[in-house]
Amino acid sequence: MNNEIVLHDLTFVPYISSKKLDEHVKNVAQKINEAYKNQAVVLVPILNGSFLFAADLVRYLTVPCEVEFVKVQSYEGTESTGTVRELIGLKEEHIRKKIILVEDIVDTGNTLTQLKTQLINAGAEHVVCASLLFKPNAYKYSTPPEFIGIEIPNHFVVGYGLDYDGLGRNLPDLYVLKPNS
Ligand code: IMP
Ligand code: MG
Repeated sequence: MNNEIVLHDLTFVPYISSKKLDEHVKNVAQKINEAYKNQAVVLVPILNGSFLFAADLVRYLTVPCEVEFVKVQSYEGTESTGTVRELIGLKEEHIRKKIILVEDIVDTGNTLTQLKTQLINAGAEHVVCASLLFKPNAYKYSTPPEFIGIEIPNHFVVGYGLDYDGLGRNLPDLYVLKPNS
């Protein structure tokens, strides 16, 4: 069929157009603009997935904002801690500011929760999250991300920064795994 794309061994079909995504990005920006008005914030996009969302989001922001991209290093901890995720690249001066973590997608919430805890332990007083996509049925924690673009079911999606094993980030639209593929 037309419009299907194949990444590695899987087939994906169109899900949310770039035009629709843009409306959701604008909406998230408006909520941030209203919540912070003239307060300075530092946007901390988590690489790699959030690079497109962050780039589009900041262009709609009117609050005074800095942007500091970070990486997350994941490694296997003890059996009780499971995968440990650690922020790489955030400077001391940013921890003292109002932090908005920028995520492409929040799934189980493990990544977000560990990063928030790490920042708070490092002395941050204000850490919230803006995520373009949120899977409420997969989320394991009580407090959802503060600023959400779109809630989606437990589907695997690619495009607009999100990848399947390294591929698909460059697609302007969002695609979803083709059923029974
Ligand atoms: P969490 O820690 O389970 O919330 O997972 C978040 C991370 O898993 C995201 O930052 C993505 O890298 C990845 N992820 C979760 N769902 C998807 C998806 O549908 N497509 C691509 N990556 C995903
Ligand atoms: Mg990610």
